[in-house]
Amino acid sequence: MLLLGDIFPNFTATTTEGDIDFHEWLGESWGILFSHPSDFTPVCTTELARVLNLVPEFKKRNVKVIGLSCDTIASHFDWCKDIKSYAGCNDDQKFPYPIIEDKERNLAAKLGMVDKDELDTSGMPLTARAVFIIDPKKKYRLSVLYPATTGRNFDEILRVIDSLQLTDKVKVATPVDWKMGDECMVQPTVPEENLSVMFPQGVSIVPLPSGKKYLRKTPCPTAEQYIRGRSGSVRRSSGGSGAMPPPEIGPAPNAPAAATVKALAFIVVGRARHRHS
Ligand code: BEZ
Repeated sequence: MLLLGDIFPNFTATTTEGDIDFHEWLGESWGILFSHPSDFTPVCTTELARVLNLVPEFKKRNVKVIGLSCDTIASHFDWCKDIKSYAGCNDDQKFPYPIIEDKERNLAAKLGMVDKDELDTSGMPLTARAVFIIDPKKKYRLSVLYPATTGRNFDEILRVIDSLQLTDKVKVATPVDWKMGDECMVQPTVPEENLSVMFPQGVSIVPLPSGKKYLRKTPCPTAEQYIRGRSGSVRRSSGGSGAMPPPEIGPAPNAPAAATVKALAFIVVGRARHRHS
């Protein structure tokens, strides 16, 4: 069984952009692999069109996207025309992400994506609607699995990418219904004595009947905090000035690539400007 934090299994595949080795194809990027039951089906067409329109948002976040459907490459090429039309694109526009062919359901079986309740006309099970998110270290970070009859929400996929990239970099966690720019929670492992240095924009502790001070809110980290990196410890100054030293600088174990940090900084600063205008 694949567990969060495991290295995502590598595979080779034939796609609409040629043969790929998945890990090589990912390179230094984050990756999203999303699967579909079948070509020329209504819900799938709306989903692939939505992803097509969201490609610039994924690029900003240093995320490569790749689809998968059981049918042949020839069928995928024909289907891409419908998807482009539904997305409001010109037919001469290049389809902006590859789609994997998985005729024998080998990959679907390997990654646990088969839906035994949805069969094609020859009685073979179709793939369910899976999404896998993989980080630049090739670690499996998140997945969702929907049945064929329920289309996914790709705004939610962008939202969780924002949360993963933010919480890799700064010691916060994102609460219910969070969106980039909203208030965050300080991670439970951060000691109280480090709060003022690590979260200079302030921390408010929500009083609760238990009397426990675990619900600690802080404004969404600034671009500067992204760049500085996250830290659980404070380095002691040797200068004897008495002033609190800055938190340790350095990448977190899963720190996003530089391009991601830049993108995150762009998004946070942009949102902050928007809020104050
Ligand atoms: C669809 O994409 O619309 C779909 C595919 C398989 C079963 C049900 C719906």
